[in-house]
Amino acid sequence: MHDNNTRPIMPHTARMLDARWYIDTDIFTQEQVCLFRNRWQFVVHDSELPNRGDYVCFVVDGDDLFAVRGEDGVVRVFHNLCRHRGTRLIDGLRGTLTTASVQCPYHAWTYGLDGRLRAAPGMDKTEGFERTAHGLHSVATDSWDGHVFMHLGTSPKPLLPVLDDLPAKLGAWGMGELVPVHREAYSVAANWKMLIQNYSECLHCPVAHPQLQALSHYLSGENDPPHETYLGGRMDLRPESQSLTTTGAPLAASLPGLSSAQRRIVAYYAVLPNLLLNLHPDYMLTFRLQPRSPGQTDVDCTWYVHPETRDTPGFDPSPAVAFWDLTNRQDWSLCERAQRGVSSSAYQPGPYSNREDLLWAFDQWLLDKVGPAFR
Ligand code: FES
Ligand SMILES: [Fe+2]
Repeated sequence: MHDNNTRPIMPHTARMLDARWYIDTDIFTQEQVCLFRNRWQFVVHDSELPNRGDYVCFVVDGDDLFAVRGEDGVVRVFHNLCRHRGTRLIDGLRGTLTTASVQCPYHAWTYGLDGRLRAAPGMDKTEGFERTAHGLHSVATDSWDGHVFMHLGTSPKPLLPVLDDLPAKLGAWGMGELVPVHREAYSVAANWKMLIQNYSECLHCPVAHPQLQALSHYLSGENDPPHETYLGGRMDLRPESQSLTTTGAPLAASLPGLSSAQRRIVAYYAVLPNLLLNLHPDYMLTFRLQPRSPGQTDVDCTWYVHPETRDTPGFDPSPAVAFWDLTNRQDWSLCERAQRGVSSSAYQPGPYSNREDLLWAFDQWLLDKVGPAFR
């Protein structure tokens, strides 16, 4: 993929990837190393952890981790294990550490929200033990317009240059100001790349999403040239639609920074490897993909609005929630069917349409990053 505006030409012979890219455990493991451990990946939106001590737990490539807002207001990410004998510290998906500390349930080693070890009962007479050397294992973080990312590798480059022109492209939506109003968790029996590929084309929209097709024509809009870090573009709302909701009516007034042209589109961007962003005139939807195995992917989906909208008496996000929950389930079903098919001994890679050029671009990106070990 290119980080300028040149558009690579998909050859007319382009076909889908071999089955092994969707089912092979060795490839999956290599993807985790190349694409998830050694790249920036999305963790959580800043507004999901509004208060100090708010945390969210997650698992990446078998590692338990958590993000927590510190007493200084900074969101940090730590490995979720004690520096004494490795015990997992925090359970559950999300919550608030009301003591402004993390205490191990085994022998009560206690850590501050900045990861420093504050107390280690029973260690005071242990020769050579240094409390300062036993803080939580921390993970590099950086953020873009409210989206907190982490990097599990060593000495990562800053996030914003990696995103290149994307922050400027999407700045008008004011994503950092938005606040969550609903979450859904899905578990999809398909490879994570199936979800990104499904997201990157709308040829299936008239067939699978009649509700979406009624509000936004599948051939409208345009894709940006594929980029090293993101794939995406826009689709236009039909003249009679104002947003993607069960009725086509908006949830609220348009987000304050949008131009008149931006109020007539929905922007769709896959920020590789694990964030999908749907930007509507009046709300944002994010998807965080978490691969679990070659054939299983967890998806955390969150709906966000402007804080004034959330605080308006009688505000109801359900027309947007119901619209995308239905559309998501339609998509997951297709991904699961495709996963079944590529797992068959009869599967042979089929030809891409010229409307599937982003899928081909994604495949080239994958082969470039992970492929050398498997050519
Ligand atoms: S394992 Fe955590 S305090 Fe002992
Ligand atoms: Fe779809």
